[in-house]
Amino acid sequence: MKEFTGYRCSLCGTEYLPDQVTYTCPKDGGNLDVILDYEEIKKKYQIEDITSRDEPSLWRYLPLLPVKDPGGESTPLRMAGGTPVYSPSVLKKELNLNQLWIKDEGRNPSASFKDRASSILVARAREIKAEIIVTASTGNAGAALACMSAAVGQKSVIFAPKSAPPAKVAQLLVFGAQVILVDGNYDSAFDLTIEAAQEFGWYCRNTGFNPFTVEGKKTGAFEIWEQIILNMNDDDKPLCIFVSVGDGNIISGLHKGFKDLHQIGWLKKIPRIFGVQSEKSAAIANAFFAGNETIVPISATTIADSISVDLPRDGVRGVRAARETGGAYITVTDEAIIKGISQLGKVGIFAEPAGSTAYAGLQKAIEMSLISENDPVVVINTGNGLKDIKSAMQSVNPAPVIEPTLNSLKKYLKL
Ligand SMILES: Cc1ncc(COP(=O)(O)O)c(C=O)c1O
Repeated sequence: MKEFTGYRCSLCGTEYLPDQVTYTCPKDGGNLDVILDYEEIKKKYQIEDITSRDEPSLWRYLPLLPVKDPGGESTPLRMAGGTPVYSPSVLKKELNLNQLWIKDEGRNPSASFKDRASSILVARAREIKAEIIVTASTGNAGAALACMSAAVGQKSVIFAPKSAPPAKVAQLLVFGAQVILVDGNYDSAFDLTIEAAQEFGWYCRNTGFNPFTVEGKKTGAFEIWEQIILNMNDDDKPLCIFVSVGDGNIISGLHKGFKDLHQIGWLKKIPRIFGVQSEKSAAIANAFFAGNETIVPISATTIADSISVDLPRDGVRGVRAARETGGAYITVTDEAIIKGISQLGKVGIFAEPAGSTAYAGLQKAIEMSLISENDPVVVINTGNGLKDIKSAMQSVNPAPVIEPTLNSLKKYLKL
């Protein structure tokens, strides 16, 4: 893609040509932002060139992505994105909000937001003719990579903590990836993956390491723009987006997506972005509260396994996403996260803990008066509840078991 002109380090600002670097800044290890030639894109495309496309998946945004069309028609690689937004009146009433949407990323092919990043990564891998893609994952990034790789016959290797929920491990295995469970946490899997990639020449997809993951995740912002913002009035308050945060890469991707649209001149007001972390995994929130960008590692223990991270790898950009957009960070208890699963379930949306975290964050933001009645709000459910049944069952009362007779039913129903 000719408009992809290079990378810029998010810490020192050094710029690199597309073929000069692969992962992070060689000078200081900072995350690299992909640079696009916005003037060229402006010249070549009108809004309608995107909005009128007969392509429901994230590939409708190809003119704004730094990769070529990877092919793979009629496979899951063409199916990521295009997820629905719901506007449940029950929740609006309960929260006293005039405008509320839930964007359900659980509807992606491997059932999480991560399909966006992995699709773009597979496209990039094909361009650079990478034989094997490797990633560390709490489960979802790996499932997404395994799924997209399987779709087009790409080889993938996934390192995950042995404590990953069984459904996520099952996905990895069923999609035919080489799966290696690490007797350690996500952070240890992350470090091993980088070493292994260097040693064996594998292409590393690690979140907050490979600059292309953000480019996939920004398509979530493009969809919110098309599905919601383009239908809003100019004098509406800015949209407020709630998203859960682990490494900080999804939130950075959303921010990048809105900045891209703004630079091209297709978006007037950048939405306010609210990052939500568990109190038991709050390294990025801590930096936000301290008023700096220094990410101090913690020992994460939250039940929301997808966002359980000791040392977030995209923390600086994660802090900036909230700070530069007039958003904030919010921390919630694991109890509120579990409760959020059944609250979303009551309107037909099944979230894994990392998904309900964002909803719990919205409730807390309302309690803290950070959000009021007239703020338009989008909550992103980043992952499907089927991925972690154990946590889902903690959010509900168990079903009764009765004898299969009308009498015992009557007894149970007290009729
Ligand atoms: C379902 C879900 N939600 C949220 C996140 C957090 O994303 P990030 O680590 O980019 O902050 C993840 C990451 O694995 C995830 O799988």
